[in-house]
Amino acid sequence: MKTYIVGNWKLNFTVGEASIYLHKLLKTIPKYRDTEVVVAPSALALQPLSLQVDRHIIKLCAQNGFYRDYGAFTGEISFSQLRGLVDYAIVGHSERRYVLHEDDKMIAKKMAAAIRNRITPILCIGEIESERAFGETKDVIRDQLIGGLSEVSDDDLSKVIIAYEPVWAISSAKSARFATPDEVAEVVKIIRETLEETYGKKAAEGVPILFGGSVNPSNAGGYLTVPGVNGLLIGGASLILNEFADIIETAKRVRA
Ligand code: 13P
Repeated sequence: MKTYIVGNWKLNFTVGEASIYLHKLLKTIPKYRDTEVVVAPSALALQPLSLQVDRHIIKLCAQNGFYRDYGAFTGEISFSQLRGLVDYAIVGHSERRYVLHEDDKMIAKKMAAAIRNRITPILCIGEIESERAFGETKDVIRDQLIGGLSEVSDDDLSKVIIAYEPVWAISSAKSARFATPDEVAEVVKIIRETLEETYGKKAAEGVPILFGGSVNPSNAGGYLTVPGVNGLLIGGASLILNEFADIIETAKRVRA
């Protein structure tokens, strides 16, 4: 399986800044056959960047998309409009769950909409600090996973990526701390087992699972060697060209 290195730029960079960053990144990294390098700029930058990017080297990802393809939904952008511009889309990021109140039902519809528009959704799941403290991590992970995939057919599971992002480990969290590789391994195992129960062992094994939460050049190697982890979803460090390039290089090295 490929290794996925995905940079989530969140609400950062103007279109001009995004274009300059992409230009530099394209010059910095060679084409890695087994490493899929992906960046998720703001929606506004996707159109111009799609004309600029060399898709053999870097793929584009939307940070969000709406579950209906067209209609009276002021302010939304549909996956049908994103079709052709991006290869991937982040769905159900914790910032959308907790700041914008997206629930599993809406997230499930977005997953289906991405797939029907030939965009690979990256379903983000993860517990908040108090859920972990109360021993609810397993239940939360299972609920978000089963809920988020409820409209994904057996045949379509191979079109999905899962990202485990413990909300307490995301750099913007008030008391963010680094997840240990053991903590990550434990939850990745829960994800794989849950997928296996629903879709069978073979299908479950084929689903890439990414880790995200304060990933940086120093800890990336540790997370990439956790059994069952197939890549990283990176926020803050992906905004710094040298750090993102370092992480890509690490991925190539540790997973060679
Ligand atoms: P940080 O890498 O800044 O913690 O962000 C993680 C994240 O939310 C990526 O989607």
